Amino acid sequence: MEILNHFSLKNYNTFGIEAKARQFVAVHSIAELKTILEQYSSEKKFVLGGGSNMLLTQDVDALVIHIDLKGKKIIKEDDDFVWIESQAGENWHEFVLWNIEQNFGGLENMSLIPGNVGTTPVQNIGAYGAEIKDTFISCDAINIETQETKVFHNEECNFGYRESIFKHDVKDQYIITSVVFKLTKRNHKINTSYGDILAELEKNNSEASGLNPTLKDVSNAVITIRQSKLPDPKELGNSGSFFKNPIVLKSDFEKIHQKFPEMKFYNVSETEVKVPAGWLIEQAGFKGKRFGDAGIHKNQALVIVNYGNATGQEILAVSRDIQKTVFETFGIHIEAEVNII
Ligand code: EPU
Repeated sequence: MEILNHFSLKNYNTFGIEAKARQFVAVHSIAELKTILEQYSSEKKFVLGGGSNMLLTQDVDALVIHIDLKGKKIIKEDDDFVWIESQAGENWHEFVLWNIEQNFGGLENMSLIPGNVGTTPVQNIGAYGAEIKDTFISCDAINIETQETKVFHNEECNFGYRESIFKHDVKDQYIITSVVFKLTKRNHKINTSYGDILAELEKNNSEASGLNPTLKDVSNAVITIRQSKLPDPKELGNSGSFFKNPIVLKSDFEKIHQKFPEMKFYNVSETEVKVPAGWLIEQAGFKGKRFGDAGIHKNQALVIVNYGNATGQEILAVSRDIQKTVFETFGIHIEAEVNII
């Protein structure tokens, strides 16, 4: 294990922001991770997974630990289900495809989400009507202070919309090292209810659009939709949705809706609605706009992009400008989904 000083994190964050780590180490086993945590117990630490959900606005004055734990295996199965354990450093999309190839169902709607398996529970990633919490059984996590392993079961994780215990009660206390998912071997719960998927299946292949699309058909449809709307971080730096879709009290929403009757919304509970932030940002006039090397994607206003050499501060300034204008226009506050470092 080599500790590197003043290490550039440009290739370790999907925004492609140039920022330096005071020290950097990649760990490839639990033993290595524990050794580092013990040896550097008094150092400030920063845990880095796939770097797909963060905006670096400054150098990281800490020991950056890159979790590069690999491996995935079946740990249990019966006639209907399979329990798969993946180490935290596996690439999420490759993991999804590996399961689909074996006809294991439950993750297909979350194809092509950037990042690594170990960070998926932190923000309960989701797309096209599916969320991690639907198939997540448990994860192993190492306590940064004591180096003891704790198993977090689904119920303990307090999963919500892009939320979990790892962002709140135990924030910065644990490093997730592996995750177990329970997937279907047969009677897959194919979920095409999210409007675009059905339309895409129909367009692509009329047979697949019948009653029985396969896991692969659904995954392919999701991939096509995502590729048409979301920029590939390898080509254009970005961090997926920069903001969360705001949840607004129905009583407040009714007043706003009277002023803006064309505003889209989804009911989330008896008392709350979710409003698509992409719509608010587009209506506020930001879609496709560019400010130096920072900009708002032309096909999806929720995504802020780095055209090349934008700094984290420049991206942050654009995000604040968007928040301010959206609030002034609609009276709705939109909150960042990415972690601002
Ligand atoms: N919309 C606009 N303009 C835009 C973007 C969206 O008017 O520029 C409208 C759309 O017309 C649609 C609504 O907003 O009526 C919702 O758009 P979309 O279905 O594209 O999804 P989203 O709410 O913008 C969320 C997730 C995405 C996920 C998609 C699909 C959040 C913050 N984002 O986006 O997740 O892929 O749904 O399920 O919940 C991510 O988290 O990084 C991410 C990409």
